[in-house]
Amino acid sequence: MISQPTMDMPVASSKRELDEDPWGSLINYAQRNLENSDRYGESLTAFCRGFKPDYSRYFVPQTMIPFYGTEIWDELNEDQRIFLSQVRYAAIYNRVSSLENLACESNSLFAAQLQKNSSNVLRFYVNRETQEEYDHIWSFRQTSRAIELHHFGEPVFDVPGANFDAQVNIKLFNRIRVAFRFMPKIMVMVTYTIRGLRNAALKTTEEAILQATDMEPNLQKQTRLHFIDEARHTGMSYMVGKSMYEISGRSPLCNLLILQYLKRPQEGGPQSIKKRSYSEPDVRNPVVRPRLLAHPILKSKAERINRFLDSGLAATPIGEDLYSRYLQRCNKNLEYMPEDFRTKANELLLALRTA
Ligand SMILES: [Fe+2]
Ligand SMILES: [Fe+2]
Repeated sequence: MISQPTMDMPVASSKRELDEDPWGSLINYAQRNLENSDRYGESLTAFCRGFKPDYSRYFVPQTMIPFYGTEIWDELNEDQRIFLSQVRYAAIYNRVSSLENLACESNSLFAAQLQKNSSNVLRFYVNRETQEEYDHIWSFRQTSRAIELHHFGEPVFDVPGANFDAQVNIKLFNRIRVAFRFMPKIMVMVTYTIRGLRNAALKTTEEAILQATDMEPNLQKQTRLHFIDEARHTGMSYMVGKSMYEISGRSPLCNLLILQYLKRPQEGGPQSIKKRSYSEPDVRNPVVRPRLLAHPILKSKAERINRFLDSGLAATPIGEDLYSRYLQRCNKNLEYMPEDFRTKANELLLALRTA
């Protein structure tokens, strides 16, 4: 139980004073966030323990399924589309829960900056937000794992011992941490800003799920609960980034790093052509979507997939190796799946083969 941390909270006498004191405005914002967390915070883990998803429903809206709008889409029947939407949901939230580990990491960096501050409000806030992230991580892993087991009989989105977190997030984070050892405030500022930007992309995805009319209702509620928590976190990420920018003396290095981060998605397309490597673009974002859809790689995507299915060679966007592992895994799992699922899965695999 957390007691209300109001004792040593500085009271701002005017708006001008707030603007001039970055720590003060941050404490003020954290206080409001704590109150909202008390009022609206609901455990996702507790909620998702109480239901089993209805596997006859869509788990994400059709527009979020990667094949949507391609020639392959037209050839899929309703069951196949529903299957793909369910795998998509598991994939998205598996990835979201991995990225949320990064939020816990950046909170620990921020917490290290709080020693000189007299207020407990920020400590309480960082603790609360981290607890909420662990709740999200646990509930989304539970849900995505349940979907993976339902369809494939084993986890498919990460491999124990060589998982996504260890390979990407923490390694990447540790490198940044070493690079910024001597500039901790700038480090906090950069990680919180990047979190804020990433959260904006996640909001777009979750908004699409919330607005869908044909979605599985419990999963939609799970997304709604997450959306409410993240609305608070995104605001706080913005405030922390902004305040640390002031506190670290508006470092030009911050400007440069954030600019580089913002420039990268714009340069992503042409660069991947030069390097001749294919990376799956994020077509969900309404701002980048039109540009990506006009991109030659995406225009030829359906053709590339068809060519791969015909030849069995490495023309696939996911790579021959990954595709053959996928088939292997499917076949292995089908051995101990119930008869009706085996028939359904074989139909789907056959449809992809002959598409
Ligand atoms: Fe979260
Ligand atoms: Fe969050």
